[in-house]
Amino acid sequence: MIDLNGIKLRNRLVTSASLLGYGAPKGRLAILGLSPIANFVDLRRFGAVTVRTVTTQPREGHFTLREHWSLRELPELVRLYRGALQEVDAGWLNAFGWSNIGVDRYFDEYFPRTMEQQRILSLGGFSADEFVALVETVNAKARPGELAAVEFNVSCHNVDVDFSAIIEEVLRRAVPASKFPVILKISPDFDYREHARLAESHGVAAIAAINTVKGLRLDPATGRPLLKNRYGGLSGRAIKPIALRVVHELREMGIRVPIIAGGGVRTFNDVREFGWAGADAVSLGSEAWLKPLWSMPLAPLHALHIRRLIGQVAAWSPR
Ligand SMILES: Cc1cc2nc3c(=O)[nH]c(=O)nc-3n(C[C@H](O)[C@H](O)[C@H](O)COP(=O)(O)O)c2cc1C
Repeated sequence: MIDLNGIKLRNRLVTSASLLGYGAPKGRLAILGLSPIANFVDLRRFGAVTVRTVTTQPREGHFTLREHWSLRELPELVRLYRGALQEVDAGWLNAFGWSNIGVDRYFDEYFPRTMEQQRILSLGGFSADEFVALVETVNAKARPGELAAVEFNVSCHNVDVDFSAIIEEVLRRAVPASKFPVILKISPDFDYREHARLAESHGVAAIAAINTVKGLRLDPATGRPLLKNRYGGLSGRAIKPIALRVVHELREMGIRVPIIAGGGVRTFNDVREFGWAGADAVSLGSEAWLKPLWSMPLAPLHALHIRRLIGQVAAWSPR
């Protein structure tokens, strides 16, 4: 076990929020919301699995909460997917808009089934009141040690909140209210230096850097945005240099709390690079899930790569 300022991780490779859904498939078949790779990688081997951002109430966001689709309706499901997620230049653009089942259903349906994993639960609120309410729910439903940390998502573009306006109050009220260590997830599209400084002064245990970077793609023939929400969050290879820059800058400005770095991580060399930049742990996002549909049958091979990566990171210590 590794102890990052009170956050207990099995090793220094965690998964980024949402990429492995709620940590378990809905039924016995891994479909919606869970990577096919999860069929071939034991999720207990990750330092921790970061669960999709949950909110006080279930939300459709820009996607859907419907779980049962007949074969005939599959084209409609694919259309919804394409409106929320597209493969773009060296990465992915997504705007699910916090589509999630809500904190209560997470605790009822998934929490008891993922007890053997090390887990970080991502929380998303539209106000300080909501973050406090979420933290209180988590305190009531999880016993000490059952979650490695909670992560505050105050850096998502796909929801209509001005996080800069609420962040100070969120940290001031919700961090001390949590009985679990708090991670603050930041984005280069907001004033991340200020957010990191505030986080440190309000006692967060670690910073997760970075969330996706706001982007746009248009259909070249029609000029129409590819995503339903127009803008989306860019992830994957394209953002790795940005993430490295942010981690490095945070260290240069004197941020001392542990940094869990993510953004375009695919290989062990990426992990080492983030270590040199100042990260204490690294998170696997798009690489843990997103692959073009045609390559899904290759999931077992890809899983082999991820299993090897976990082994390499388990034997690694930064700097
Ligand atoms: C499809 C998708 C859904 C995501 N959902 C969330 C989310 O619910 N909460 C969150 O904090 N980040 C979310 N993210 C951002 C990732 O956790 C991660 O920070 C980002 O993708 C950058 O890492 P990567 O380049 O390795 O993918 C999502 C990313 C993708 C691609």
